[in-house]
Amino acid sequence: MSWKHKHLLGLADLSREDLELVLETAKSFKEVSSRDIKKVPALRGKTVVTLFFEASTRTRISFELAAKRLSADTLNIAVNVSSTSKGETLLDTARNIEAMNVDAMVVRHSSSGAVFLLAEGLNCSVVNAGDGCREHPTQALLDMFTLQEKFGRIEGLKIGIVGDILHSRVARSNIWGLTKLGAKVTVCGPATLMPRGIEALGVDVCYDLKKVLKQSDAVIALRLQKERQQDKFLPSLREYSRLFGIDQAKLNEGSDHLIVMHPGPTNRGVELSADVADGKQSVILDQVTNGVAVRMAVLYLVLGTKVSEGG
Ligand code: CP
Repeated sequence: MSWKHKHLLGLADLSREDLELVLETAKSFKEVSSRDIKKVPALRGKTVVTLFFEASTRTRISFELAAKRLSADTLNIAVNVSSTSKGETLLDTARNIEAMNVDAMVVRHSSSGAVFLLAEGLNCSVVNAGDGCREHPTQALLDMFTLQEKFGRIEGLKIGIVGDILHSRVARSNIWGLTKLGAKVTVCGPATLMPRGIEALGVDVCYDLKKVLKQSDAVIALRLQKERQQDKFLPSLREYSRLFGIDQAKLNEGSDHLIVMHPGPTNRGVELSADVADGKQSVILDQVTNGVAVRMAVLYLVLGTKVSEGG
C-alpha cells in the first residue's frame, strides 16, 4: 500500500486502502507517546503550522503534539491576532505564512470547502481540521482507530451516530470512512436535524434511540452544533435530551457490549448524562489519546508525499 495524497481534505476522497494505511501507520506511532522520550525523527526539518479560525481544544493541541513527537517545528496561528482580523483574505494570510517555507498547514474554518481553496492556492500540504458542516476527517479516523482497537475490526460492526446529523462534519466523515471499511451505520436524531436523502450515503435512518442502542456495537453521540444552527431546530434542550440524550437507564437497555463515543466537547446533561460520559462504557478519553497517534500518521503520510504526486 502506498500513499498518494499531498493533502487530507476529507474521507470522501480516500479509498479503503488509504484508510487502512492511516490506521496501520497510527498503530505503529501510538507506542511513541507512551515512551519516556516521546519523540521520533520522522519529520525533522519540516514545519507544520496550525491555522484555526474556530475554537478547538482537542484537535489543535493533538496536531501540535503529533508534529512535535515527529520532531517537526510547529507554529500556532491565533486568528484573532493575525491580519485576517484586519481584513486580509484567507488565501492571502495563508500565502504569507507559506512564504516562510512552511511544509504543512492544518486548517479549521467555519466555511465548508475553505480547505479546497487553500489546497488549490498553496504549494504546501493542507490538512483539514474541520471545515464548516462538511468534513472533520481526522476525527473520524481517530474514531475508527478506537473502534478497531476495541473490537479488533471495523468490518461488520454496527455503529449508531446520534444527534445533530445535519450540521455535523464528524457525522459526514464517519459515514464516508465507516461505510468504506464495511461497518453498518445508522443515523438517529430529530427529524429537523436529519439531512434529506442521507440514505444515499449508504446509511439507515432511525428515529428511535432505544432501538439504535439495542442493535449497535458502538454509539457516537454528537454535540449539538448551536453555532451552526441558524433556525430553531428544536423545541427545547430538555426535549432533545429526553428523546436523544443518552443516560444510564437507556444504556442499560442497549446491547451488552455497547461502547459510547463522543468527539467532544460534550454538553453534559444534553447529549450524554455525566454518569454515562464518565462511565465504564465510555471511551471518550481513549478517543482523545488516539487522536495524537492518528494525527502523527496523517502528517507523516502527507509530508512524505512529493508535490508532483498531487491528490
Ligand atoms: N472533536 C473536536 O474537534 O474537538 P475540538 O473542537 O476541541 O478540536
